[in-house]
Amino acid sequence: MNKTTISELGSCRDREAEIWGWAFNKRSSGSLVFLQIRDGTGFCQAVVDKSVIGAEAWEAAGKVTMESSVKVGGKVVEHPKHRGVFEIHASRIEIVQIAEEYPIAKKEHGVDFLLDHRHLWLRSKRPWAIMRVRDMVIRAMGEWLNDNGFIKIDSPILTATSCEGTTELFAMDYFDLGKAYLSQSGQLYQEAAIFAHGRAYDFGPVFRAEKSKTRRHLTEFWMMDAEAAWVGHEENLKIQEELISYIVQRVLDKNATELAILERDIEPLKAVKPPFHRITHKQAVARVRELGSDMGDDQDLGGDDETALSKEYGKPVFVEKYPAKVKAFYMKRDQENSDLALCADLLAPEGYGEIVGGSVREEDYETLLKRLEEFKLARKDFEWYLDLRRYGSVPHAGFGIGLERLVGWICGIRHIRETIPFSRLINRLTP
Ligand code: 4AD
Ligand code: MG
Repeated sequence: MNKTTISELGSCRDREAEIWGWAFNKRSSGSLVFLQIRDGTGFCQAVVDKSVIGAEAWEAAGKVTMESSVKVGGKVVEHPKHRGVFEIHASRIEIVQIAEEYPIAKKEHGVDFLLDHRHLWLRSKRPWAIMRVRDMVIRAMGEWLNDNGFIKIDSPILTATSCEGTTELFAMDYFDLGKAYLSQSGQLYQEAAIFAHGRAYDFGPVFRAEKSKTRRHLTEFWMMDAEAAWVGHEENLKIQEELISYIVQRVLDKNATELAILERDIEPLKAVKPPFHRITHKQAVARVRELGSDMGDDQDLGGDDETALSKEYGKPVFVEKYPAKVKAFYMKRDQENSDLALCADLLAPEGYGEIVGGSVREEDYETLLKRLEEFKLARKDFEWYLDLRRYGSVPHAGFGIGLERLVGWICGIRHIRETIPFSRLINRLTP
């Protein structure tokens, strides 16, 4: 019998075909058994009719438990009521393995129970849909970057320096060389790469040891750092809005099924096209105070502030020019006001908050030296980075996208822990 996948069932219409997968549900009524099958590519129903199937196959159908692995063959028939939905009228059932009683039954489980069983939970419809959107986001990101002159240069994970501040570093002993730290961002290495390639990006896991237990924080997450020579603040934002718009439109194009499973309202996503909104940090502070925040003039936006602010917009909004002292050492200052950094965070709308952080980088050797001192960072750890300002320094800018935050917004998932296959939180290291 012709083996096919559920996603390809339509092309086998009215013919015999076989799918190999797992039974995720079963319902019986008298001489009929309805098996719900998934095979990774999709979901379908197999109808087993006692009056047409052999005795042995009927017995097999009776034995199938939830999550048993099976091969089911038969005629592919379009659902009488739902166009484009196909089912199999089974003539053959082969059991590969009878599953033990499956811990994730249909009844509602708490999220901690589900996360403890994440290795199994991944099979359920909702995680299945999220992971497929995640895959598409990664693909679309690479497509756009490569089509727009960015070369992928992998950054190291083990590093001797911090990128985003020393308080959030995971440290370990590293042979005779003292401490090594898990990378917080590959940015500094991408800055080295652009002097060879003009435009470069990386994509990989990064680590933050911050003790934040919020719906936006993971201790291990995936970041894409992009960096470009000869790019200033304006162009940096343009690149970001084009890239983000491309990713969202690709997901709308390719993942309609997944977004429907997630019951994501796609109207706000359709609006994600350049130009995005823009406000200054100062305007943002004024607005969130009107909305009830008590944040100070010179503070970073807190999680609740971001939520409140980003609910005000139907499309992503850039918050520009933060006070330099709340941002990282490498950011160039605004020429018009040297207390401000030439930076922007991109907040996703609908209350999701920051998904991208970026800035123009300080390209002047002496100024950068001064910044290292101001931020109490040891010069010896940054000699190689300072070299980039000694040998043909140029204006440049870049940004980092947090993959899970982006996927969370696109999927309409409130908590980031569901957007990564196996989440690492301050209280979770398994499975
Ligand atoms: O804003 P961040 O800290 O910026 C950087 O690390 C820069 N070096 C990036 C660059 O310019 N190349 O982090 C970038 C993004 C944030 O906007 C957010 O989306 C995500 O990474 N992020 C986190 N995601 C999940 N859990 C955390 N703890 C995160 N911290 C940051
Ligand atoms: Mg940030």
